[in-house]
Amino acid sequence: MSTPKSMDKIMALCKRRGFIYQASDIYGGLNGFWDYGPLGAQLKKNLRDLWWQDVVMHPVGGALGPDGKPVDIVPLDSCIIQSPKVWVASGHAETFNDPMIDCRETKARYRFDHVSVYVPEGEPEGNRPFFAFVADTPSEAKQKKKAEKAWGAVKVVPLATLAQDTWVRVLAPEAEKVGSLTEPRAFNLMFKTYVGATATEDDVAYLRPETAQGIFIHFKNVVDSTRVKVPFGIAQTGKAFRNEVTPRNFTFRSREFEQMEIEFFCHPDEAAAWYRFWRDARLAWWKSIGLAGENLRIREQGKDELAHYAKDGAGTSDIEYRFPFTAPDFGEIEGVAHRANFDLATHQQHSKTKLEYFDSDRGEPLPNGGKKGERYLPHVIEPSAGLDRGVLAVLCEAFTEDPSRPSPELLRLDPKLAPIKAAVFPLVAKEGMPEVSERLHAEVSAALRRFGAVEHDVKATIGKRYARMDEAGCPSCFTIDGQTLADQTVTVRDRDTGAQQRIALTAVVPYLREKLAL
Ligand code: GAP
Repeated sequence: MSTPKSMDKIMALCKRRGFIYQASDIYGGLNGFWDYGPLGAQLKKNLRDLWWQDVVMHPVGGALGPDGKPVDIVPLDSCIIQSPKVWVASGHAETFNDPMIDCRETKARYRFDHVSVYVPEGEPEGNRPFFAFVADTPSEAKQKKKAEKAWGAVKVVPLATLAQDTWVRVLAPEAEKVGSLTEPRAFNLMFKTYVGATATEDDVAYLRPETAQGIFIHFKNVVDSTRVKVPFGIAQTGKAFRNEVTPRNFTFRSREFEQMEIEFFCHPDEAAAWYRFWRDARLAWWKSIGLAGENLRIREQGKDELAHYAKDGAGTSDIEYRFPFTAPDFGEIEGVAHRANFDLATHQQHSKTKLEYFDSDRGEPLPNGGKKGERYLPHVIEPSAGLDRGVLAVLCEAFTEDPSRPSPELLRLDPKLAPIKAAVFPLVAKEGMPEVSERLHAEVSAALRRFGAVEHDVKATIGKRYARMDEAGCPSCFTIDGQTLADQTVTVRDRDTGAQQRIALTAVVPYLREKLAL
């Protein structure tokens, strides 16, 4: 396995080149919130558009489903705020909790499962403290030092494994005195707000923690208002909000993020086949946008990890990327879950609206050649992807350091995703070169306008202009020089190799069409 890339360098490039900024930056930032700059907003849109293309416009590239028919998916755009009853029915009001512990001394709050403790290797003798810390924070090294001084050889155990009566001896991270940690308490991750001007407890509403529930509550409306027949899917992209206790790792765990979700409704007998279909299709999609290789994997969740809705025999697979901050481990970018009929059943029960589907293609054959029909609650396969985590994985995968270049950092973005598709430069801003480069820029822009930006840059040395485009992930730069004026050719420089070749001015647009697979 190669050494992990530097997250500090990736974050610095993201800020320097306008991919991602800390939200409210000039006010000191807001923990867990990130904004996308000009290049980042376009990169994010490109990834969302590719998903939309491969999910809604031309599902799975035209592949046939396990039933041998084209896959049918329709889009939806539901509100961020819904009736609070939705979250009671979905279980989020009751169970969308992280157990938390507080430190009475420092007032810090921790996710219970994130706190570990240094304890002695052997039996603890005497009354010395146990030293609590949160992995990957400065408390880890500080507490280790203190623990070794107190005990000699130490080992790490999760706080949860220490008997509660020994917590009086636990020294919390950054605390001075032992015994300051409270018992674990549930902390709901949904952001609360109020609908209407009175803002009483009766007006409480929540920002959605996932886009999925907006789909389930419209299952009947979609069936009644369109010609879809089970099996079919409903897809939507949009913001989701979770008041994460410990937002961290850049955009990986944010409090506001965007999801790209499909709820695919099918007959219970066919759910297992559709689950396998979607697992393979979604893994192939992430490969198609440039995440192939040793950093991408799919992992079937263990029984102990399954969400509250998962029934016996219902699987969940995580598509995971090895981020620099998780390496050698992996972090989830998409989950593909077999949710059985949990969601439709619970919304049917709470809303008292019948959500069963009448399938006229099933049931006993009738003398007239038709079928008697079957009424059932469809089962659901849910491929649920994180757009921000996708963008982060793409940026980490693309980030490359090439020490042989004067400016060593570049982004090897897949041309489909690159926010800037091409750049045109005059070698120098004189001798008629800017006029030719402006003409070429206008021609290339007109041809590619629908697919992305084309830059024209006359400032700085040519080396600096190439370096700027390398950092932006622009696949090709075209330079007008003295020879162009004589023979109507131009140099094209490849971002990944730095190699240059001459092609005719008239060949530039066809060259780009091929490179960008347009
Ligand atoms: N409807 C199912 C659902 O929401 P999830 O695993 O909680 O499942 C799906 O979320 C995806 O949303 C994850 O795979 C991840 O990519 C993204 N995601 C979840 N929480 C996130 C967070 N705090 N910050 C950024 N992305 C997040």
